[in-house]
Amino acid sequence: MSKHSVVTMPGDGIGNQVLPEALRVLKAVGFDAEYIPADIGWECWRNEGNALPERTIDLLARHKLGLFGAITSKPNKEAQAELKPELQGKGLVYYSPIVTMRQKFNLDICMRPCIGFTGNPLNYIRKRVDDDYDEPEIDTTVFRQNTEGMYAGIEWTNPPENVRAALNSHPRFKAFASVPGPDMAVSVRIITRSAARRIVTAAFDYAKKRGFKGVTICEKPNVVRETSGMMEETAKEVARNYPGIALWSTNIDAQLMWLNKNPEDYNVIVASNLFGDILSDAFAGLVGGLGFAASGNIGDEVAVFEPTHGSAPKYAELDPPIVNPIAMILSAVMMLEHVGENDKAKRIKDAISTVVKEGKVRTYDMMRISGGAKSISQGAASTIKMTDAILAKL
Ligand code: NAI
Ligand code: MG
Repeated sequence: MSKHSVVTMPGDGIGNQVLPEALRVLKAVGFDAEYIPADIGWECWRNEGNALPERTIDLLARHKLGLFGAITSKPNKEAQAELKPELQGKGLVYYSPIVTMRQKFNLDICMRPCIGFTGNPLNYIRKRVDDDYDEPEIDTTVFRQNTEGMYAGIEWTNPPENVRAALNSHPRFKAFASVPGPDMAVSVRIITRSAARRIVTAAFDYAKKRGFKGVTICEKPNVVRETSGMMEETAKEVARNYPGIALWSTNIDAQLMWLNKNPEDYNVIVASNLFGDILSDAFAGLVGGLGFAASGNIGDEVAVFEPTHGSAPKYAELDPPIVNPIAMILSAVMMLEHVGENDKAKRIKDAISTVVKEGKVRTYDMMRISGGAKSISQGAASTIKMTDAILAKL
């Protein structure tokens, strides 16, 4: 029997191109695992009216570890139109399978490393006063609360009477009291102390493991006093358990300015759902963007690792595939670290580092050319060639 079992969910579009590449690398490095393929995504929606079938949920519950590629999601009207005829008009509603998965298994900790590889032409550079350039070493990991806040999905256009009545009881609502219901949309931002504690603790544990001096809580407590206030207050509480690691506090707006000026100053940032999503994409843009952005959705029992990118439908049919498999491979690396296979994780990271540094094999995104069938004839490596190059360094 294998030591580990991993549910593999390639999903849609380029998910089907990159996930097999990550498996090639995991096999090459000798990860002792059995892989259990599972269905997720658009075809499941069209044929079954559910993008995350129960059988996939069961497999995740049983095996606890998942690797996920990407899914396609479409606006409600299109989603309805693409349902197979027998399922149409039955009141089925499309829900994002990844959001459902996060909520179902309480995958409340989202970890998004944004770590630059030396020699990546997509890395952030900064002009110096002597007109030369600096390329700061960026090693930032964003801890994003994954299940609450602005993405909890508790929202209305034209809020029902009882909600409206509750809002009316707030003195600040006077300013909106005369707005007709259909002209008003309301989203509720809920933060709970226990979830705040878990995400902040995850950030501090990571800082401790990596030997970093501090953790930055990035919110907006001076304006969003209650919810951001609870995040910050909880962070202060948790910080007391980590003597020697400082807690810094920044506001989301200022932080985005600082990351453009001094991104190397931030190693660990923790934030609520929406702010964490924004921060992690913004930092990822400094170290190569979607081709390099990996993430882990981590709960107490189950953990699922996935690249940040989506299904990139415009490239999904190209043969050979052209997209960068590194984000997916780095997601597999995160999975290895999660299960304590740190040597294997390091070997893969080192192999990627060498390939990027040598710069001989680059997918189209790393060459700053547009994607498409022509990119190969312009010298870009295919998805498979990139993986081959990484395998050769292992
Ligand atoms: P996307 O991430 O799929 O692609 C945006 C663009 O980024 C692509 O057209 C391509 O130019 C580039 N790109 C993405 N991955 C790349 C890679 N590995 N290598 C090189 N270049 C890469 O986002 P988009 O186009 O907004 O959405 C497409 C579909 O994916 C939609 O249906 C959307 O809902 C879904 N989506 C799914 C996500 C998930 O599965 N977690 C996340 C984001 C979007
Ligand atoms: Mg995002």
